[in-house]
Amino acid sequence: MNTVLVTGGAGFIGSNFVRLLLDRQADWKVVNVDALTYAGNLENLGPLIDDPRHVFVKADIRDKQAMEEVFLQHRIDMVVNFAAESHVDRSIMEPEIFLTTNIIGTQVLLEAAKRHWKVIPEDKYSKEYREGVRFLQVSTDEVYGALGRSGKFVETMPLSPNSPYSVSKASADLLVRAYYETFGLPVNITRCSNNYGPYQFPEKLIPLMLANCMVGKGLPVYGDGMQVRDWLHVSDHCLAIETVLLEGKVGEVYNVGGNNERANIDIVKLILRTLGKGEELITYVKDRPGHDRRYAIDNTKITTELGWTPKYTFEQGMDETIQWYVDNQTWMEHVVSGEYQAYYGRMYE
Ligand code: NAD
Ligand code: TYD
Repeated sequence: MNTVLVTGGAGFIGSNFVRLLLDRQADWKVVNVDALTYAGNLENLGPLIDDPRHVFVKADIRDKQAMEEVFLQHRIDMVVNFAAESHVDRSIMEPEIFLTTNIIGTQVLLEAAKRHWKVIPEDKYSKEYREGVRFLQVSTDEVYGALGRSGKFVETMPLSPNSPYSVSKASADLLVRAYYETFGLPVNITRCSNNYGPYQFPEKLIPLMLANCMVGKGLPVYGDGMQVRDWLHVSDHCLAIETVLLEGKVGEVYNVGGNNERANIDIVKLILRTLGKGEELITYVKDRPGHDRRYAIDNTKITTELGWTPKYTFEQGMDETIQWYVDNQTWMEHVVSGEYQAYYGRMYE
């Protein structure tokens, strides 16, 4: 029996992770802390809200007092930190909240974990922690910067982030490293590539294009559309996180990728074809400032050392994902009301 503090568990990946973990670990409990920003949605959790093994706490990871209370009220064994501002375009418009949530929020959680897990908290030299505790930081391949036509990201590469978002995530990674090196806190960092799948907020490429395509609206492709991302199905990502929690070597960083490099324009065309719409919906728009050209993950370390491999092919994952959005248009209607309209207007119109 483990009690896992999942932060950001009402967002896209977090909600998929909570569902997967409680399905697979019958006697585990999840304390789900989420501030319910525009990206957090209790509808993503469905029946889990009434599951006795799932406790939802509406709180901000930057709030020291609230995080202290979570650790006091529950005997937390593991932290999986998903909570973040996660969209590059928003970080270009309003960087500040990325620094406070992604950097300060992570530090607040690290500090609470250190205080509650250390066997002798008042001894600054002690690196002895309660048996079995682990802090897993969910990071991104964007911390490595951009690639040229060839090569892949490996864990030993220097960090070279380019956007306010990726800088904030790289900073959080360095704090996690500092808590390991200085205080001996048992940590892991996972750096994954672009996720896709059910419950993704329609500000990101795939759900935004699906949402627009379903209502016959233009599909805004940045620049020449030849930027490349390495797509990972969210279920494969969640399984990788579970693997690292159970098997990961303390202090290590693991890249997680699906070996699915695709140019944006090819994904847009695939969506149009699958939904039976014509390419006249494609609308080339001004490129994102500082747009990273290519990301690609080398996942040799996690596959050879921990035995995780992605199960989804991109074709199967996209078929299922597109079908999910077709079947869940009410979810989409709820999500795109309110704040989303204001964001869309500011970003694209
Ligand atoms: P998301 O934006 O869908 O969800 C983020 C969640 O965090 C939301 O539920 C939001 O309410 C919550 N949150 C935001 N600020 C908070 C705060 N201050 N306190 C508490 N909760 C807060 O993001 P996602 O796509 O699910 O990403 C989850 C994590 O994975 C992030 O850390 C992100 O950087 C990382 N990641 C995502 C991708 C991807 O493709 N989506 C790729 C690599 C890494
Ligand atoms: P996104 O889903 O925002 O993820 P990230 O920037 O973190 O990789 O974008 C994926 C790619 O799609 C990226 O190259 C930007 C591009 N893109 C568009 O061309 N149009 C859009 O409307 C969006 C949201 C993204």
